[in-house]
Amino acid sequence: FEGQGRGVWRYRSALPFEEGVSLPEGGTPLHEAPRLREDIDVNTLRIKHEGMNPTGSFKDRGMTVGVRVAKELGVDRLACASTGNTSAALAAYGARGGMQTLVLLPSGKVAAGKIAQAALHDARILEVDGNFDSCLDIVQDLAERGEVYLLNSLNPFRLEGQKTIGLEILEEFRDDYDRFPDRIVLPVGNAGNTAALYKAFRELVQSGSLDPENVPKLTGVQAEGAAPMVEAVENGWEDTERWDEVETRATAIRIGNPVNAPKALPGIRQTNGTAVAVSDAEITSAQRDLAREGIGVEPASAASVAGLRKLRSDGVVDADEDVVCLTTGHLLKDPDAAFEAGNEPEPVANSTEAVLDHIGST
Ligand code: F0G
Repeated sequence: FEGQGRGVWRYRSALPFEEGVSLPEGGTPLHEAPRLREDIDVNTLRIKHEGMNPTGSFKDRGMTVGVRVAKELGVDRLACASTGNTSAALAAYGARGGMQTLVLLPSGKVAAGKIAQAALHDARILEVDGNFDSCLDIVQDLAERGEVYLLNSLNPFRLEGQKTIGLEILEEFRDDYDRFPDRIVLPVGNAGNTAALYKAFRELVQSGSLDPENVPKLTGVQAEGAAPMVEAVENGWEDTERWDEVETRATAIRIGNPVNAPKALPGIRQTNGTAVAVSDAEITSAQRDLAREGIGVEPASAASVAGLRKLRSDGVVDADEDVVCLTTGHLLKDPDAAFEAGNEPEPVANSTEAVLDHIGST
């Protein structure tokens, strides 16, 4: 853990370069959430809020490395398929690096904030009449034909940067409590983060910085309407089967073919973790719970807390566990979802009397 500075590049000794195309990223808060902790009933609950990165999601950690590689290679057109956040991060980091970006989005299924970011950061945006998985098929074809440089999490350099989520969590948790967390709960879409965290832990064990028995249990959460990883775990750790029909309010993880599953499933299994599916109603309620602790996240992010609640009430997670939940994206990414889950604005006439009448005197 001995690095200098803050954020992703503090961990440069674990990364392929000394520096990247940077905005800069990482160094996100590890919030306490005391009411939620008590309500869910675990020993410790901390929320690693990745929505506090420069473009509002963890994707920035991968892009700082991935776009640096693209620069090194001298490619000029960067591309990704995206449920939104990857496209926002690619557009911003591509712009920073002075390169053209092309993003393929599933039409009608990307939250407004994310498209706005891609647009303003000068990405060329193609809205494909299909879901995320078909967008990724197309971008992979384009990359194989040499037309674009692929910056989805299939690109291993992205995952190198995302390893730093795990490094930061362990370092900060150890500094606060003098021990490591028992479990890290995270939302799963393409399973890139799950794979990246597992790689970070393996490297720490190999270098002697982490005892194998202290490796946190990787615990993945998917939406019920898009849960091929959960299905694979429940079917005895089989390979994932592609779901052609997917649906969830958590559009960031509306994914039927998690391309990093071969790297992520062993991570969940070897760390004695598990995977669980949650309903959209459970996601919304967790999003509200977090917001009422002052932590504003998008729906996919709240899946981690919804999953923890479920696993705790099913007795899979014990009351004595130290848990970190990862929240992957910021509330402002998906304003429509926030309006749906939050309070209705109340119209009122233009006078103090009218306002007081409306709210009632204390
Ligand atoms: N949470 C958010 C907010 C995301 O945007 C994503 C993935 C995930 C979780 C899942 O992470 O793929 O590492 O398991 N979003 C991608 C995108 C697919 O295009 O923005 P994963």
